[in-house]
Amino acid sequence: MKPEGKTAADTVAQNAAFHRLADDEPVWLFGYGSLIYKVDFPYIRRRPACITGWQRRFWQGSEDHRGVPGRPGRVVTLVEAPGAECGGVAYQVAGRVFRSLDVREKNGYLRLWVPVRLAGGDAVDGLVYIAGPDNPAFLGPAPDAALVRQIAAARGPSGSNREYLLKLAAALRGLDEDDSHVYALETMLRNGPGRVDP
Ligand code: BEZ
Repeated sequence: MKPEGKTAADTVAQNAAFHRLADDEPVWLFGYGSLIYKVDFPYIRRRPACITGWQRRFWQGSEDHRGVPGRPGRVVTLVEAPGAECGGVAYQVAGRVFRSLDVREKNGYLRLWVPVRLAGGDAVDGLVYIAGPDNPAFLGPAPDAALVRQIAAARGPSGSNREYLLKLAAALRGLDEDDSHVYALETMLRNGPGRVDP
């Protein structure tokens, strides 16, 4: 079930209240963005995986990791797209792990249960972090060139937005994931001078 109504930018309390997980409960987490390559949390099992009905898009603003207030970067969220497949990595983690992940991903991302297909064919239910259009940091679509200009210019406490895009593209390639949105932005970023037009 999806939480309803406008979401706050800081989602830590909402996520903790909405999905009460026991500390030792094994839970599947589906990662489609930085969770694919930045694995700074303990996990029990890790599998390439995919979900259906969602597309990865650089539509969420980041003022806490890859940008700063007033100069947000862009990071990925998932957008509903009937029939689409989104590949990533599923981790089985202990319920307590969500306490720190909720803080890491607090800027507008709410957890949602989704059906997840693990490589090899097993089907599980997993939690995924999604920043919906009703969160204050949501930026929405823009032409690729505008996305790349913003990404090339942004930097925040976790590093440059450029690095985020390049690491994500490399991680997706490592999974053999076909993602024309991410790869098109990567190509444009690499080919461009990485500067902001006046
Ligand atoms: C992920 O990699 O699944 C993820 C991306 C952005 C925010 C939270 C999680």
